[in-house]
Amino acid sequence: MPPSTITLPAIASRIQETVASHDRWRGEECLNLIPSENITSPRVRRLLTSDMGHRYRADDNFYRGTRYMDELETLAEELACKVFHADWASLRPLSGHVADMIAVSTLTKPGDSVLMVGPNDGGYEGLGASGGYTEYANVKNLFFPYDPEKMRIKIHEASDLIKETRPKLVVYGQSYFLFPHPVKELDEACRTVGAGIVYDGSHVLGLIAGGSFQKPFTDGAHLLLGSTHKSFFGPQGGMILGTRDVQGTVKDKQRPGLIDNAHWNRIAALAQALEEMHRVGPDYAKQVIANSKALASALDEYGVPVKCRDYGYTESHQVMLDITDPREIEDFTKRLESANLIVDRGIRLGTNELTRRGFKEDDFEHVAGLLSEIYERADLAKVRKESIKLRKEFNEIHYT
Ligand SMILES: Cc1ncc(COP(=O)(O)O)c(C=O)c1O
Repeated sequence: MPPSTITLPAIASRIQETVASHDRWRGEECLNLIPSENITSPRVRRLLTSDMGHRYRADDNFYRGTRYMDELETLAEELACKVFHADWASLRPLSGHVADMIAVSTLTKPGDSVLMVGPNDGGYEGLGASGGYTEYANVKNLFFPYDPEKMRIKIHEASDLIKETRPKLVVYGQSYFLFPHPVKELDEACRTVGAGIVYDGSHVLGLIAGGSFQKPFTDGAHLLLGSTHKSFFGPQGGMILGTRDVQGTVKDKQRPGLIDNAHWNRIAALAQALEEMHRVGPDYAKQVIANSKALASALDEYGVPVKCRDYGYTESHQVMLDITDPREIEDFTKRLESANLIVDRGIRLGTNELTRRGFKEDDFEHVAGLLSEIYERADLAKVRKESIKLRKEFNEIHYT
């Protein structure tokens, strides 16, 4: 129906119906394999509806009536420091992208250079691509020498590049993220030139919280930041954690220019997710990684091309398919969607959400079978029925 022909009462019910349809389809009938997404526990969801979502609070008590929000922030920051072994934390960044903006804005000046994984190598395009944030910050992009076959930074070349170009900031982390980054191996080079070391853990924050993948602070990072809703199973938002030496430069300088209202219902929900992560993070992270390996090797056995077979496929929540033809990707991902198997066009498959639903290695072998049937052009309606059936066998949220 074209919008102009819809009456206002019809619009009101269409809003409700559209959201209910989405919730039923994506929430109850699909196998979600997008690595940037996850699901929250019922307690986290409930906190998102708190009255705090209607309120402001400011450090100088400009707004009255904030005593519970004040207490909540202190609690949440303490918890975040415990989970990530940080000296300080801020849950105020509204997203991973905003956390990146805070890091670049507070730790560089126009004209400085920032070293990161290039967008063509799976780096975050919101930072380093044309039109990315570094353009607005007027800093110069340098890209890590990278081996796309191994999906890894080339350590010796990177060390030489750091010493030669003396970047002000080195940013680890990427959007297509299979293996840990050489933070420790490059620490000496970074320290020699006095570079700030930032770890953008947007994708792997839940694994790091569970003590897996890598330990950015032990390895030498000054800042760990990222999204709170990818492998970390919190509400959509961001977080930034740091060592004492950058507290004054970053935490104390983020407001008011980069963060003002922080959306306090989100912070309440994030505090709850941190509490869950503190208790069950290690089990969750180990299972996510085991599931990724099981999915990758089962896909490989079914004849679906998977990247990095010779390197163990993956150490993260992601599995990368080795399909490069854009038309094939478009066709394959659309057919997967028709069979209720939801992926992105980067064809990274994420095991985080289904792990939270209780899927184990053998369940992921089942998922691999469904994906391979679509790859082999099986009947979409038949696979869709199987996807819905499999999804409906897992109705509880685990690791809460
Ligand atoms: C490496 C990386 N950093 C930052 C972001 C931005 O995160 P957000 O969507 O929370 O703003 C992304 C998003 O996908 C990402 O992949």
